[in-house]
Amino acid sequence: MKANIALMVSVLACIFAYLYDPKTCRSCVRALLKYVNGGYDQNAGSSNVKVFTREELSKYKGEDGGDVYLALLGSVYDVTKGKRHYGPGGGYSFFSGIDGSAAYVTGEFNEKGLVDDISNLSNQEILGLEEWKSFYEKDYKFVGLVEGSFYDKDGGTLDMMKIFNKKLESAKLEKNLIDNDKEKFPPCNSEWSQNKGGRVWCSTKSGGIARDWAGVPRMYFTAGGSKPRCACVRTRGPPSYDMKSQSHKDRGDLDNPNLNLYPNCHADSDSCPLPKS
Ligand code: HEM
Repeated sequence: MKANIALMVSVLACIFAYLYDPKTCRSCVRALLKYVNGGYDQNAGSSNVKVFTREELSKYKGEDGGDVYLALLGSVYDVTKGKRHYGPGGGYSFFSGIDGSAAYVTGEFNEKGLVDDISNLSNQEILGLEEWKSFYEKDYKFVGLVEGSFYDKDGGTLDMMKIFNKKLESAKLEKNLIDNDKEKFPPCNSEWSQNKGGRVWCSTKSGGIARDWAGVPRMYFTAGGSKPRCACVRTRGPPSYDMKSQSHKDRGDLDNPNLNLYPNCHADSDSCPLPKS
């Protein structure tokens, strides 16, 4: 409700702005668009923000002692202080003067890879881009936007930004699901040697998940996963899907139907030999 009132007030403000001065209106509309897009656009929407053309940006490669700029997700950063990386002869000079967003996560540092089309990136890669974005926001100065796939010549948001926001949202959801699953079923420790073969076992820190129980190894079958993974399974207390249960069997998650015992391994053992396949 509050949001709707805010939206109505903003629309009215835009109409007044247009009647008063059409130029003021442009920044007002941009702010509105940002609101409607509801996403990652903290750098757009201000009439003070410089919007570079691609050609303009291409001049900032640090040649002849000049400044070095690069763009990520349509935002331009002054990376002159990192000239040894981005300037002429630097190991990452291919990033300067352009928006090569995709290459930050694909590692394809060539003409085909150094592009601002992120529509084919995986969720994992989108999260990687988000990290790079935070890095540049923190370590370097934002100096504007570049006209390209993310922003138009007026700094208005384009479809690629919507694609990024959508993918980022589902990437975060997916990561949450994976993190929750790892908390519930932490990965096992594992080792393999020529003489002894393989072994999986559980400890209170296995899979990088610190906890107050070690659990027992089970083959864990996940939806969509072609192979089961080894999970350490809690053996006491209520099942994870009903932690408040008063009438549980005190078997933790042992009865989860997606779990199988390892062959040749006792149900209570915290270490199992791996079947030779
Ligand atoms: C997708 C792959 C990679 C990308 C996109 C990437 C990108 C970058 C960028 C942009 C910087 C400069 C950061 C700054 O502004 O301070 C940097 C620094 C650095 N990178 Fe990479 N990198 C990649 C892979 C690697 C790999 C595989 C190694 C090592 C084997 C590596 C080693 C380094 C080192 C040592 C620095 C810091 C250099 C220094 O501070 O003097 N990078 N990387």
